[in-house]
Amino acid sequence: MRCLSLYTLSRACRPFLKHQVLMLFIVTAIICIYLNIFHLRHKHAKKYVLSLSNYSWQWLKGSGQGPNQTDAQACMYPVLDPYNPKMMAYFKKVSPVKCGIGENWVYTENGTFRISKSASKNYGDIGCFYRTVTRGKTDFEVQKGPRVRFKDGDPLKTDFAIVQCLSPNGKKFETILSGISYQPDLHARYKPSMLSNSSMGFNVLMFGFDSVSRMTWIRNLKKSYDYFTKELGGIVLEGYNIVGDGTPQALLPILTGFTEPELPEARRGKPNAKQVDGFPWIWNEFKKLGYVTQWGEDMSGAGTFQYRMLGFKETPTDHNLRPFFLEGENNYEKSNCFGAIPTHKNMMNWGRDMFLMYKDKPKFSYLFHSKYSHGHTSQLQVADDDLLEFLQWLEKGRYLDDTILILMADHGARFTFIRDSVQGKLEERMPFFSFRFPKSFIEKYPKAYANVKKNSKILTTPFDIHETFIDMINHTGTGVADIRRRGVSLFKEIPKSRTCAHAQIEAHWCTCLNWEKVDKVDENVKKAISAVIEKLNSIIETQSHLCHELELGNVSQIVRYSGPNEAVLKFKQSADNDG
Ligand SMILES: *[C@@H]1O[C@H](CO)[C@@H](O)[C@H](O)[C@H]1NC(C)=O
Ligand SMILES: *[C@@H]1O[C@H](CO)[C@@H](O)[C@H](O)[C@H]1NC(C)=O
Ligand SMILES: *[C@@H]1O[C@H](CO)[C@@H](O)[C@H](O)[C@H]1NC(C)=O
Ligand SMILES: *[C@@H]1O[C@H](CO)[C@@H](O)[C@H](O)[C@H]1NC(C)=O
Ligand SMILES: *[C@@H]1O[C@H](CO)[C@@H](O)[C@H](O)[C@H]1NC(C)=O
Ligand SMILES: *[C@@H]1O[C@H](CO)[C@@H](O)[C@H](O)[C@H]1NC(C)=O
Repeated sequence: MRCLSLYTLSRACRPFLKHQVLMLFIVTAIICIYLNIFHLRHKHAKKYVLSLSNYSWQWLKGSGQGPNQTDAQACMYPVLDPYNPKMMAYFKKVSPVKCGIGENWVYTENGTFRISKSASKNYGDIGCFYRTVTRGKTDFEVQKGPRVRFKDGDPLKTDFAIVQCLSPNGKKFETILSGISYQPDLHARYKPSMLSNSSMGFNVLMFGFDSVSRMTWIRNLKKSYDYFTKELGGIVLEGYNIVGDGTPQALLPILTGFTEPELPEARRGKPNAKQVDGFPWIWNEFKKLGYVTQWGEDMSGAGTFQYRMLGFKETPTDHNLRPFFLEGENNYEKSNCFGAIPTHKNMMNWGRDMFLMYKDKPKFSYLFHSKYSHGHTSQLQVADDDLLEFLQWLEKGRYLDDTILILMADHGARFTFIRDSVQGKLEERMPFFSFRFPKSFIEKYPKAYANVKKNSKILTTPFDIHETFIDMINHTGTGVADIRRRGVSLFKEIPKSRTCAHAQIEAHWCTCLNWEKVDKVDENVKKAISAVIEKLNSIIETQSHLCHELELGNVSQIVRYSGPNEAVLKFKQSADNDG
């Protein structure tokens, strides 16, 4: 069945629901789950109706308990084609970001201000001032320092600064710059004794884009993908499956090992809600080993931990990009650029600066860019050349020699027409996630490396990424992973018998289940549809002066989950034929 969309609602009702689009998305998602499960297990319909009202339902029990399949893999996730014509129809070539100005008069270089030679040549003896930009009392404020004159080579006092320059003939330049300022205490943090003999001791660099399925990554980031997989030997997790809807539902399991409901209440407006500082963040564990930590994301108005949640009370990491984007996006961003630098490039440069400043110090860095990919299917292409250049810079500078590199996304597209197709819905559930290990890792931990390669063809989840981080911190050897646990380290061999039930992936998100087309609108489906519409009507009842009562327009598609051991081919067919 096709999920109800905003357009199903009357015109008058839409403004009311505009503020509740997110809620509506959640509700529509639930309808699909409900219908599918209802049809599959109609005897338990009542139970699922109840679950619908409290937003918690169970993943299918009994997956993997079918006939003996000694050799078969329990989770046969779909094998999708990135160039499926149906998907290519959503894909457009886009032109590169054009910043509107040729060059920045000022830039940063390993913790210092630099005045561009060519700007000096073009504009004469430039006079420049900076104002420091730092975090205010909360995640939602920045503090700006007084105006200070500086010259070429002066040190950055803080990571971020607004710079203003004047040329002798009255031309002006102003932008916001990011860098990594020199902080003696951070350089002094690491002592070799901090690494226990079981810590692997590699730097971690994780770079991600929001809402990018593995297929969309391949479609949009072709050059950097080829370089990453072919030249660098990156390993892409082909069975990586989300465990919930949205960015926090991916990043919290990765960074804390828990889901949002398992963590202390941090949602805005909820009783006893507190900021997220107390969550067991993985960067704190790295910090205990002497690592310098870095975290940053763009779209500060919708921060992963600030949009619905209260954000951080104190800065979570040693270097935190939030004040830069908060000030930059509000006052300096033009045509996706800060001055002459596209915002994604600025973020990559900030990652680069971390590696320059702490060349020989252990570091944990996580950068996550959303702007191009969050609501567009093709815009991410503009980052391909720069991502390639960043990877090449890291490799040529030998920064990857002691670094575990992770390129990733949180989930596939949750919006846009791409989700009208079955493949689009599957892509939503299968984001891009990949690892690249340096030679020194492969030599020291050959079995762990071989296991990651094997596991790249097995069902894996964000919880596993967290366990893998823990295993980097305290390596507990290889061997076979205990799949009775929700998350397992990728350094251990994951048995083929692992199912969504083991990994605690709800049926709605589980791509190991087959989605069979159901042709007949039978009594059970009719009942399910009425129940869903009734539920939706009860939600909008209080707004009856604005909202027309909903009624069924048309049913365009009904699918039912079955599984868990259906052939992969079947998936391909239904993905190609969907309506
Ligand atoms: C949700 O509903 C089920 C079925 O009634 C119930 O067992 C469960 O405790 C409820 N969960 C919450 C969080 O209210
Ligand atoms: C299934 O596997 C178990 C354990 O390997 C074995 O004991 C049992 O006989 C098998 N059943 C069938 C029907 O092959
Ligand atoms: C780590 O050191 C302890 C004590 O020095 C030793 O007992 C243990 O076997 C070592 N572990 C590894 C993995 O080398
Ligand atoms: C950058 O500056 C820091 C601090 O002065 C220094 O330790 C480091 O070696 C420099 N990096 C490079 C690549 O020159
Ligand atoms: C690693 O092991 C040490 C020593 O047993 C322990 O204190 C620490 O909490 C462990 N770290 C993690 C992240 O599990
Ligand atoms: C209802 O949906 C079916 C299947 O997509 C389609 O063939 C039919 O034309 C639709 N009817 C209306 C009235 O939209």
